Amino acid sequence: MPGNRGNGRLRSAEWFERRDLDGFLHRSWLKSTGVTDEAFRGRPVIGICNSWSELVNCNVHLRGLAESVKRGVFQAGGFPVEFPVLSLGESLMKPTTMLYRNLMAMDVEESIRSYPLDGVVLLTGCDKTNPASIMGAASADIPSIVVTGGPMLNGHWRGVEIGSCSDCWHYHEELRAGRISEADWVEIENSMSRSNGHCMTMGTASTMASMVESLGVSLPGNAAIPAVDAQRYRLAQLSGRRIVEMVREDLVLSRILTRKAFENAIKANAAIGGSTNSVVHLLAIAGRIGVELELEDWDKLGSQLPCLLDLQPSGRFLMEDFYYAGGLPAVLREISSVLNKDALTVNGKTMGENIANAPCWNRAVIKEFADPFKANAGIAILRGNLAPDGAVIKPSAATPKLLKHRGKAVVFETIEEFKAKIDDPNLDIDENSIMVLKGCGPKGYPGMAEVGNMALPPKILKKGITDMVRISDARMSGTAYGTVVLHVAPEAAAGGPLALVRTGDVIELDVPARKLHLDVSDEELAKRRAAWVAPEPPKRGYYKLYVEHVQQADKGADLDFLVGGSGTTVTRDSH
Ligand code: FES
Repeated sequence: MPGNRGNGRLRSAEWFERRDLDGFLHRSWLKSTGVTDEAFRGRPVIGICNSWSELVNCNVHLRGLAESVKRGVFQAGGFPVEFPVLSLGESLMKPTTMLYRNLMAMDVEESIRSYPLDGVVLLTGCDKTNPASIMGAASADIPSIVVTGGPMLNGHWRGVEIGSCSDCWHYHEELRAGRISEADWVEIENSMSRSNGHCMTMGTASTMASMVESLGVSLPGNAAIPAVDAQRYRLAQLSGRRIVEMVREDLVLSRILTRKAFENAIKANAAIGGSTNSVVHLLAIAGRIGVELELEDWDKLGSQLPCLLDLQPSGRFLMEDFYYAGGLPAVLREISSVLNKDALTVNGKTMGENIANAPCWNRAVIKEFADPFKANAGIAILRGNLAPDGAVIKPSAATPKLLKHRGKAVVFETIEEFKAKIDDPNLDIDENSIMVLKGCGPKGYPGMAEVGNMALPPKILKKGITDMVRISDARMSGTAYGTVVLHVAPEAAAGGPLALVRTGDVIELDVPARKLHLDVSDEELAKRRAAWVAPEPPKRGYYKLYVEHVQQADKGADLDFLVGGSGTTVTRDSH
C-alpha cells in the first residue's frame, strides 16, 4: 500500500512495524487504549487536529464534528486519532489572537511531525485557528484536509436579521450617538449569537473558510454550511473518508497549495468581499509552502474583480443565506473565466471540475459576474512615503468620496490614548480629519491587533456622519467597514514613517493612484527620525520571542525562523 512517504510504506510504519524494543513500546502502549493490532497496523493513521476549546465559543462543537470525521476514517480503512492543539478565540483572548497564530502553527507542525501520523484532518473555526492550522500542516507537508466548524445561524432582533460582528459596530455607534438605549443594547447582545459556529458575516472566519475552499484544501461546499446543519457533519464524515485515500495517493499539501491555488484564492476573496486579514494569512501560508506571493498580487489579481456577494459587512445578507443560495461553489462558477481551473484540490479533482455545475439558487445573494454587487471590489495596495512597504485598503467597504482625500492628521500614539480621548467633546477633530493610530502592528501591540477601524468621535456621529479616513499599522476585523487604511509597513514600532506623523500634518490618500503620502518635507522627517525613540522590547517569554522574530505585515507577520518547512522525516527515537 503506498503511503505518504512516497516509497510504498506508511510513515506510521516507522513506529508500529519495527521488531525492536521501541516498536514494542509504541504498540504496547497504544494498545493500553483498548485497540487491537488490527485497528492500527498497516492502516493509515489519521490525526484529527482539533482546535476545540471551551474558551473558543466558535470551536466548541468541534469534538462532535471529530466523531463524524472518525466515522469516515474507519469506513475507509484508516485509524483515527484525535489530538488537541492550542486554540485561539477572538472574543476572549488578549491582547490579540494574532499574537498566538504563529505559536499555534508551531504546535500543529510539531504535533504532526513528532507523532506517527500519515495524514491529518484539521478542525478549525474561529479566525486564526484556520490559518494557523494550515501554516503548521504546510510546514510538515503531509496529506491534509480542512473541515471548518461553519458559521452560526443568522442573528435576529425585533424582526431584523443581525450579523456578528458588523452589527456590533453599527449598534455600538447607535448607542454612542444616543439613538438606541442600554436596554436595546442588551437585547441585541442576547439576540445575535444563536448557535454554535463562527461569526456569520463575511468576517475573517468566513473569509478564511472560503479561502481554504478556493485553495482546494477542503471539500467543495465546506465554507458556508451552517455549524448546526447535518450537512456539515456529513461533510466531516466524507472528509474522513477522503483523507485515507489522500494518504494512499500521496496527495501532500504542496501538490495542492501551488501558486495557481493562491491566485484562485485572491480572486475568490474579491468576489466574496472578503476580509483584509486574508492578506497576512495567505502570505504566511505561501511562505510555509515555498510559493512566491507578494502584496502586489492582491492588486494585480483581485482589485479589478467584482464582488458578487451581497453579504455583510459590504452588503445585506448573512452566511446562512449564502449557504441556501449555493455557497462558495456558486461564486467560483461565476468567476470561473478568471480562475486557474486546472488547480488540483483535495478530492483529487480540479477546481474546474468541482465548480462546473454548481447551481445558484438566489440571485439576490449571489450576483452574476456580468451584473455584480460591486465593481472593482478586491483589496487595493497603497504605497508612498507613509507606507514604503505597503498598506492595504478594502475599497468595497469604504465611502467612495473618501477614496481620494486630503486631511489633517489627528494622531493617537496608542490605542489607550485613542480610547481616553475620542469621546472628549473638546478633541480638535472634524469629519475631514484623518485619524492616525500607531503602535498596533506586529511588534508594537504586540501581535497586530484588530483596532484599525477606530470608532468615530460622538460629536461627528451626532451629525449623521458615519465614516472618516483612518490609518494605522493595525488590522481590522473582517466584519468591520469604513475608509480604513491598514497594515502600514514598516509599522511605527519598527521605526516606519508612521512613527513620525504628528497631529496637524497633512496626509493625502489617493486610492485610484494607490498613493498614501505624508505631506512633510524630507528634512523635517529626518529631524523627527533622529529624535525618535524605539519602544522598550518585552523582557521574557513568548512575547520576547515573537517581537524579536516577527516579520512585518507585508510578509505575512510570520516568525522569520518558521518560514519554509521541515517535512515529516521521522526523527530520532525517544529511548
Ligand atoms: Fe470567532 Fe468571530 S469570534 S469568528
